[in-house]
Amino acid sequence: MSSQVRGVQLARLLGQWHALPGRRRSPDYAALAGAVRGLLADGRLPLGVRLPAERELAEALRISRTTVTAAYRQLRETGHLASRRGAGSWTMLPGNHRMASTGLWIPQDDRDMIDLGVAALAAPPQLLGAARAAAEDLPRYLGGAGYHPTGIVELREAVAGAYTDRGLPTSADQIMITSGTQHALDLVLRLALAPGGSVLVESPTYPNAIAALTARRARIATHGLATDGPGWESDLLLGSLRQTRPKLAYLIPDFQNPTGHLMSAQLRERVVAAAHAAGTDLVVDESFVDLALDGTEVPPPTATFDRHSRVVSIGGMSKPYWGGLRIGWVRASAPQVQRLAAVRVGMDMASPVLDQLLAVRLLADGPAIVAARRAQLTAQRDALLDALAHRLPDWRVTVPHGGVTLWAELDGPISSALARAAEEVGVRLAPGPRFGLDGTLERFLRLPFTLPAADLVEAVGRIAAVRYDLDRTGGQRWREPTVIA
Ligand SMILES: Cc1ncc(COP(=O)(O)O)c(C=O)c1O
Repeated sequence: MSSQVRGVQLARLLGQWHALPGRRRSPDYAALAGAVRGLLADGRLPLGVRLPAERELAEALRISRTTVTAAYRQLRETGHLASRRGAGSWTMLPGNHRMASTGLWIPQDDRDMIDLGVAALAAPPQLLGAARAAAEDLPRYLGGAGYHPTGIVELREAVAGAYTDRGLPTSADQIMITSGTQHALDLVLRLALAPGGSVLVESPTYPNAIAALTARRARIATHGLATDGPGWESDLLLGSLRQTRPKLAYLIPDFQNPTGHLMSAQLRERVVAAAHAAGTDLVVDESFVDLALDGTEVPPPTATFDRHSRVVSIGGMSKPYWGGLRIGWVRASAPQVQRLAAVRVGMDMASPVLDQLLAVRLLADGPAIVAARRAQLTAQRDALLDALAHRLPDWRVTVPHGGVTLWAELDGPISSALARAAEEVGVRLAPGPRFGLDGTLERFLRLPFTLPAADLVEAVGRIAAVRYDLDRTGGQRWREPTVIA
């Protein structure tokens, strides 16, 4: 059953509707309809609620019923109202859209959408068993208050053990468990970066890292990655560190998102030394470190070369395991972890104990789960590469040997136009400019290989169809940017 908004309530929400901008040029009914649309657009009037009967609203607004009748008619015509005789009228949005919690409109038929905007796998089959086992473990914690700002010790030990196994001796007090890698980044930035501080990032880079930096009002400079070859131009990267001496640098050396590049051991060592000389703190995002493909050997962790607590590593379980776990971590010096915990207490206090127990269970099964992930990703990547080679042979792709994404160089600066056109045929894309700062990267598109192979092949077929339509219709083409003076 839908809820109902009464005449007086709607009148209160509408407020000074008759005095809205542009009002003088439009009749009463149009102004009233416009005001209702405004309430819907900013989410103050929910979707699917029953509006008051025409007479009731007319009385509440002290206007004629014919004005309300005409306003409701216009709202029906514009797709903001659905009516059934005798049953009333409900609010809706045009074109079968619903409002996302972010205030963005998203298509209602989302289940049919092939979503290539998100680079993350569905949960592994072991997850449910691990969740049940975690519930069995929970009684061990129920006697305490349950607040562990740095995380429960068994999970910190498991994460520390994984670093030690990678050749970087680490103790549990150097680990802080967070609600995902994104949370880890945000915490580190709160501690290490004053508002307006300077930060160096790769371009392209992970968009939500840019969002976290923007939220800290960072001054962001970029280091451009090459599409092929090793990616990072060593001399340029080291030169920027030396010359600009940023407060912080955020890097993704292990199967970079979105390019898939892997930084060599030699460059890691040189970057750490240059950062130390420049007084720069390095935040190293290791989200994809477990996902090496084709037997690729991953160089030692960047923090291995750190002698001065310059490197803070962040990582998490979203990519090898499941994003819905919301488990991430920071590896830093023990005093830094204590300072992070103090910052965290002012934010969210601690991560849920049950989720952490689940993470412990999954990590215990880690080698088998991760091996299966790698096999799955290899098969999906190959299916995607094959489909691209057949359907979009003009696009240039470098084969990534790890991670979950490939970075395609398109046959023109069409990425945003292509994403808009693809959405129409049920494929969601993250266009190149999302991964940069200044609206460039229109020649590039990130394609994740996290969906089943059949979906990837279908998506490439649809993208190829709209790609060639872009040329034919001409309407969505890249245009000269308008100069605003
Ligand atoms: C490089 C990078 N860092 C962080 C994240 C966010 O990870 P989490 O889900 O653990 O917050 C992602 C997710 O795509 C990522 O690609």
